[in-house]
Amino acid sequence: MSLLGTALRNEFPQLNIKVHDKPLVYLDSAASSLKAAKVVDRVNEYNRFETSNVHRGIHWLSQKGTENYEKARETIASFLNAKSPNEIIFTRGTTESANLVAYSYARHFLQAGDEILLTELEHHSTIIPWQVVAQEKSLKIKVVPITEEGNLDLVKLEELLTKKTKLVAMQSSSNVFGSDNDIKLISEKAHANGAKVFVDAAQTPSHKPIDVQSLNCDFLAFSGHKVFGPYGIGVLYAKESLLNEMPPYQTGGSMISEVHFEESKYLQAPQRFEAGTPNVSGAIGLATAVQFVQNLGYDQIQFHNKELIKALFDELGQIDDIEIHGPKNRSSAIFSFNIKGIHASDIGSIIDNEGIAIRTGHHCCQPLMRRLGVTASCRASFSIYNTLEEVELLKKALVKAKGFF
Ligand code: ALA
Repeated sequence: MSLLGTALRNEFPQLNIKVHDKPLVYLDSAASSLKAAKVVDRVNEYNRFETSNVHRGIHWLSQKGTENYEKARETIASFLNAKSPNEIIFTRGTTESANLVAYSYARHFLQAGDEILLTELEHHSTIIPWQVVAQEKSLKIKVVPITEEGNLDLVKLEELLTKKTKLVAMQSSSNVFGSDNDIKLISEKAHANGAKVFVDAAQTPSHKPIDVQSLNCDFLAFSGHKVFGPYGIGVLYAKESLLNEMPPYQTGGSMISEVHFEESKYLQAPQRFEAGTPNVSGAIGLATAVQFVQNLGYDQIQFHNKELIKALFDELGQIDDIEIHGPKNRSSAIFSFNIKGIHASDIGSIIDNEGIAIRTGHHCCQPLMRRLGVTASCRASFSIYNTLEEVELLKKALVKAKGFF
C-alpha cells in the first residue's frame, strides 16, 4: 500500500481548493507539478527576510545569500551525482538550458554537414533550438522513429548514428507516454561514434533518480516547476571540461574577470553562464524541492507510480473506444489518450466541470501527434499526491463525457 497520495495532501494545500464547486482533481503535473508547502515557505522566507544580491556584496546579508545560493548548487550537484557543483548552471528551465547548449555548444563546435540526432518523441524545446542552429550552420537533423508500441526504435537508432553525428538530443522520459529511454545505453552508442549527448530530463526527477556519471551524458536539463519547485528556475548539468571550452550564452555582470571597452575576460563555469543577477530565491527553493523528493525516497515514489499506472490501465481500459497511446511499460503515471469520435478539447472542457484538470492538445509534441495520427490528445498526468480514488473519478468523468456524444 502506497504511503504517498493521501498522506501528502497537506503538503500541497492547493489540493484543497474547489473548481466549479467540486474538489480539485489535479491531473496536469507533467505540465507543472504543484508546489510543496516547504518550498513555498522557503522561497517566502528568503524574500521576506533574506533578500540581497549574491556574489557582489561584502555585507552580511549578501554573504549569507551567496552562501545559500552556492549551497543550493551543491545540493543539486549531489542530487544528480555530478562530479562538482561547477557542473551545475542555474537557468530559467529546461528550455533555456537547451537553448544555452544550442547557442554555446552546437553553434560553435558543429560544422556544415555535421548531424544532430533527435527522436520522434521530442518536445518542441528539444527540437527547435537545434533546428535554428542547423539552419544557420547547414547541419543535418535526423530523427529516430518510434516503434508501433511507442518505444524508441533502437535498431533504427543504430542505423542513423554515424561518425557524422555530433550530437544526440533526447528526452529521458516522455511527457506524452510516461515511458523512459535508456539514456545510459544511448550515451554509450553516441560516444562510440564521437557524438555528445544532451538529455531533456524535464519529466524525470519527479519519479526517478538521475545519476549523470552513470548515464555519462554530456548535458542534462530539468526544470524546477515540474519537480514540486518554483517557476523560472531550472538546471543545466554539463561536464566541466565542456563548459570551460564553451563561450558564454549571455554576457553582463558577474560572469567576468576583467572588462575593458575593447574586450573582456570571462570567469570559468558556472559563473560564465550566469550573467546578471540570478534567481536566488528560485535556486534555494529548487534545492528545498529536491531535498523534499529525496526525503520521500524514490522507492516510495516508484511504488506509488506503479499502483497508479496499474489502476489507470485497468480503469481507463474499460472505457469503450478509448485509445491509450504509448507503451505498456512506463514508469510515470502519464496517460495520453483519445476517445473515438470526441475531440480531446471537448473531453477536457467537460471533465473540467467536474473539477478535473487534464491537459488537451499536442503537448508541445506536434511531430509525435502526427506519428500517432491525431492532432490532439487528452493527457492525464498523476503525481505523488494523487490517489487511486482520483483514478476512479477520472474514469467516471470520462464515461459521463462520452455519454454526451
Ligand atoms: N512540457 C510541458 C508539458 O508537457 C509543458 O505539458
